[in-house]
This record gives sequence, structure tokens and C-alpha cells, in this order.
Amino acid sequence: MKVYPFKNVVAMSHMLLQPYVSEAQVLVDMTCGNGHDTAFLASLMKDDAVLYAFDIQDCAVARTKERLDSLGLSHKTVVYRQGSHDDLVGHIAEPIDIAVFNLGYLPSGDHGIHTKSETTIKAIKICLHKIAINGIIMIAAYPGTEAGAQEEKALRRFLQSVPQREFDVSLWQPINQIHCPPVLYIVQKRG
Ligand SMILES: C[S@@+](CC[C@H](N)C(=O)[O-])C[C@H]1O[C@@H](n2cnc3c(N)ncnc32)[C@H](O)[C@@H]1O
Repeated sequence: MKVYPFKNVVAMSHMLLQPYVSEAQVLVDMTCGNGHDTAFLASLMKDDAVLYAFDIQDCAVARTKERLDSLGLSHKTVVYRQGSHDDLVGHIAEPIDIAVFNLGYLPSGDHGIHTKSETTIKAIKICLHKIAINGIIMIAAYPGTEAGAQEEKALRRFLQSVPQREFDVSLWQPINQIHCPPVLYIVQKRG
């Protein structure tokens, strides 16, 4: 049995998404970075599903593609796009089953290129319109830096205003970690 530690937002996100990924037809990694989330989604998705991998940085898109190739996942349908997720997500015509935002900066990259609350919230708003019934928007936020704290605060305020009749919105966060532990927001479209 694969064991997921209740330790960090990425492990938690993958654990919660696992039963949904194999059912999904359209999946989107909104910040593909080093490709860990994209590889997780690609490894479990159906062969006829399509996965979009977006990142604002060319080098992140290249690293993600390299990771998938090295893991033998090149037979999966992955559409790589460089650009801002709030511009790119609008071009997806089909309903989205799973959208994953792993916010912040690219580890071992330029830490000055950080997701921004305005574009993050704009992209989430588009996802809320496009998400399928029972579809999930998973958002990992990192309030440990000044930029991350500002983004997480704005994100929380926005998500608290999402209508309860249409979406279930919750969060998971470690509570015994020092400093400012990451937060995982889970949004599911109600049936
Ligand atoms: C924490 S990293 C993502 C980690 C990645 N999901 C992984 O599994 O390796 C955050 C990423 O968001 C990207 N990013 C920042 N602003 C963005 C935007 N507006 N649209 C798309 N990607 C963005 C950064 O370039 C960075 O690669």
C-alpha cells in the first residue's frame, strides 16, 4: 500500500485527488513548475483523458516535459502551454474535472516570479465557471513569505465568498508547525 504522510500540502492534495484522477477526462495543472503535480496526474489518469500543463515560465514547462518523458509518461495526452493561467484556462472548451494550483515560486528557479492574488483569483473564477459537477479545484498556498501571505489572505477572503449553494469549500493546514504553515484549499462543485 502506498502511504501518504499527513505532513505537507502536496502529499495531502495528492491523497485527496487520487480517487478522482482516474475518473477525470479533463485535468489542468495551473502552475506546472518542476512537474511533480503534472507527473502525479499523468501517471493516474485514463489513457483517453487530456491534461493541460501551464506555467508562466518557459523553463518550468520544459522541466515538466522532461520529467514526464523521463518517467515514461509521454504516451499520455499532455498539452503544454507557457503563459499566465488566467489567460490560458479560458481557451479550454470542455468542462474541467480537476484543476490544481500549487502557488508561490519555482523551487530552484527565480523566486521573484511568484503567483499573484489578482491573476490567481481571476483564474479561479474562470475555473468556477468551467468546473464539472463534482469537479475539484485544489489550491496549495504558502503564506511563509510576504508575497505568499498577501496572496493567501486575498485568496481566503475570496474563497469565503464563493456561494455555498454551488460549491463546497474547505481547507486543510498543519497546526503544530512553526512559522506560517502552508494551506490547502479544496473547492468542489456541488451536484
Ligand atoms: C510552487 S511552483 C509549482 C510547483 C509544481 N506544481 C510542481 O509540482 O513542481 C509555482 C509555479 O507557479 C508559476 N507561476 C507563477 N505565476 C504564474 C501564472 N500567472 N500563471 C502560471 N504559472 C505561474 C511559477 O513560474 C512556478 O513555476
